[in-house]
Amino acid sequence: MRYLVTGAAGFIGSHLCTVLLHQGNEVWGLDDLSKGKMQNLEHLRGNTRFDFIKSCISQEKYLKGLIEKVDVIYHLAAVVGVKHYVEDPIRVIDVNVCYTSRLLELAWKYGKKVVFTSTSETYGKNPQVPFKEDADRVYGPADTDRWCYAISKSADEHLCLGYAARGLPVVIIRYFNVYGPHADSSDYGGVVNRFITQALSGTPLTVHGDGSQTRCFTYVDDIVKGTIEAGRHQEAEGNIFNLGHRRETSVLDLAHMILNASGMKGEIVFQPYTEFYGSSYEDIPRRLPDLSAAEQILGYDPAVTLEDGLMDTIKWYRNKADRY
Ligand SMILES: NC(=O)c1ccc[n+]([C@@H]2O[C@H](COP(=O)([O-])OP(=O)(O)OC[C@H]3O[C@@H](n4cnc5c(N)ncnc54)[C@H](O)[C@@H]3O)[C@@H](O)[C@H]2O)c1
Repeated sequence: MRYLVTGAAGFIGSHLCTVLLHQGNEVWGLDDLSKGKMQNLEHLRGNTRFDFIKSCISQEKYLKGLIEKVDVIYHLAAVVGVKHYVEDPIRVIDVNVCYTSRLLELAWKYGKKVVFTSTSETYGKNPQVPFKEDADRVYGPADTDRWCYAISKSADEHLCLGYAARGLPVVIIRYFNVYGPHADSSDYGGVVNRFITQALSGTPLTVHGDGSQTRCFTYVDDIVKGTIEAGRHQEAEGNIFNLGHRRETSVLDLAHMILNASGMKGEIVFQPYTEFYGSSYEDIPRRLPDLSAAEQILGYDPAVTLEDGLMDTIKWYRNKADRY
């Protein structure tokens, strides 16, 4: 099969390209490198079934030709990271909604299947967990910029379903807190990778709020399997699937687990949300997926335990520190 992966140099995109290539497919990876890194694709250099195109998804001169030649588009390119949402909501809407809208229109025009990567953030602060795909979306006020990401991905879901009604084969997958090698460990990235780099560098692990907020941390290998299956099952088309993990862990427990797993004797400090994000932030207390639809239709089964996933990720960071 021939695949286009947008956001290919990013965290999940780079793993997705790798597995698709291992399976014998041809892959075109597109990324503007605004956040993604060529380092994430270094191991694919020389692979004759892989081509990387450095471009923004808004550049139709590249996008059209790529969409024309592939069978399936995995659309991962997006502005990702909570700190980005509160700092630049305009870019979030431009990339995640405006450019994505045009990509979907082109996919529809050329009749190419799309797997669209959405997020557990779309449920917002709905207190009724676990979240089923048809649950209500509950957001805060418009002047709280953090909601712009959830709103942008929700708008995309409406676009996907609109095009599905016009005949586009499209599958929407909602990821829940993914971690693993290649993830952004800066202040703009996810909490797992940030804690690991803090632990390994001997700096205190900064827990935002009191650490009682829970997430279901999902190892990237499980996410990639679910993502690929979403592109394969015809009965998945026109539907939405949660892809996450069954285990709910508080952020404070996660910090302790990372200190234990890394063997480091770091400190844990608590930082008020306002100090880190400014006033335009609101946290989500619990986030837990109902996975029954993905289990039944995609055969999804997140098998990597948090302990094993953390060990693998810590090992990767240690090897990376030796290499660079
Ligand atoms: N990581 C998670 O926990 C998580 C959770 C829910 C949803 N998602 C979704 O999964 C997808 C991948 O996320 P990720 O964690 O790998 O993020 P990431 O930031 O590592 O990857 C996104 C990639 O898109 C690229 N990009 C951004 N704007 C672009 C543009 N205009 N044109 C071309 N490329 C552009 C970036 O350079 C980056 O490499 C995103 O759509 C995200 O919303 C991720």
